[in-house]
Amino acid sequence: MKVPFFRLQASAEDFGAVKDVLASGWLTTGKKAFELEELVKESCSAKYAVAVSSATAGLQLALAALEIGAGDEVITTSFTFTATCSAIIQSGATPIIADIDPQALNLDAQSVTKKITRKTKAIIAVDIAGLPCDYRALLALCRQHGLKLICDAAHSFGSVYRGKHIGAIGDVTVFSFYSTKNITTAEGGMVLTQNQRLAKRLRLLSLHGITRSALKRSAASDWRYDISEIGHKANLSDLNAALGISRIKRFDSLLDSRARSAKRYLKELSGFADYIESPPVIDSVKGDSSQAWHLFIIKLNLNRWRIGRDRFIKELTKLGIGCGVHYIPLYHFSAYQGLLNISSKKPREVYQTENAFQRVVSLPLYPELKRRDVKAVREAIGTLVERFGE
Ligand SMILES: Cc1ncc(COP(=O)(O)O)c(C=O)c1O
Repeated sequence: MKVPFFRLQASAEDFGAVKDVLASGWLTTGKKAFELEELVKESCSAKYAVAVSSATAGLQLALAALEIGAGDEVITTSFTFTATCSAIIQSGATPIIADIDPQALNLDAQSVTKKITRKTKAIIAVDIAGLPCDYRALLALCRQHGLKLICDAAHSFGSVYRGKHIGAIGDVTVFSFYSTKNITTAEGGMVLTQNQRLAKRLRLLSLHGITRSALKRSAASDWRYDISEIGHKANLSDLNAALGISRIKRFDSLLDSRARSAKRYLKELSGFADYIESPPVIDSVKGDSSQAWHLFIIKLNLNRWRIGRDRFIKELTKLGIGCGVHYIPLYHFSAYQGLLNISSKKPREVYQTENAFQRVVSLPLYPELKRRDVKAVREAIGTLVERFGE
């Protein structure tokens, strides 16, 4: 691959941080996990944070802590990774799928409105590619109907919405620290809330419902503990947390590099505007919102191509450019057939979701991406425009 879809470069500090934890002899949840919680909390001005083993686990915990389960409905998008929706199903609640905004690819508040029933308890919104959702509209709906807002912010660590950091907007926010994400702990995540009671429940449920963690027991040389509730096993190890701490310390530069590459793409691809729609950019003049560029998702203007999206990806890959599709709508997967009330053959209810799916291509975007890489992507796309454009 000339330009792989993703590449991660560990720094000397990353290696050092992980080695130090290994040398300390305390590998599981301890001081490092708590230190990462403090750093994440500070960076997004949230009151409470609980480090978890993945965003998937974080979403499961969020629903459990909010006591959402059998008989309840949760409205979300199908234009997302399976975890957003599987967490709802695993909680016992019913996922209700709303459509997306065709530009932003995020939940469309108007579509959400139509799905609200007496059983609706929460909305799970996803900031696709790091672009914040229309939270003003979603929060208004939540207030009006007494719903909880869970932000699946797997992509948007570092984004700001109308002066508020993602992490301090919803009732619960879940970040992913998976390997490709804006900050990584290899596998991991963070759950944030502004509510103390909820924070306590999240922590309790993250570790089997055990009332005193191993660290506290060890520090007090006291083996006793209670299990006050049947919980999950979702704690983050210190080994993972150390990597996150090392990377969050240089988060500004990691985020700047992503934004710089996104800006280069926007410029380089502007010549192909008839063939390709570039992703929406938050109007920086307003100054009170920003997007953490997690993915760079272009949309093909299919009426200008003699090939479809799948062939486009095949040809781009042949030219040495790695790319992906975010996302295959969930109703296309066999496990979801019959669970979402949407036909994968005629998904009329989610017209915008299906339409976006046919057009989207994610281009390489990560801090290590170089100017020459972006140019190589532009050249490859130019070649395809010449060969297959009309
Ligand atoms: C939108 C979204 N939600 C949730 C997840 C799950 O994250 P994790 O791998 O940390 O469980 C992902 C992971 O890619 C994601 O993209």
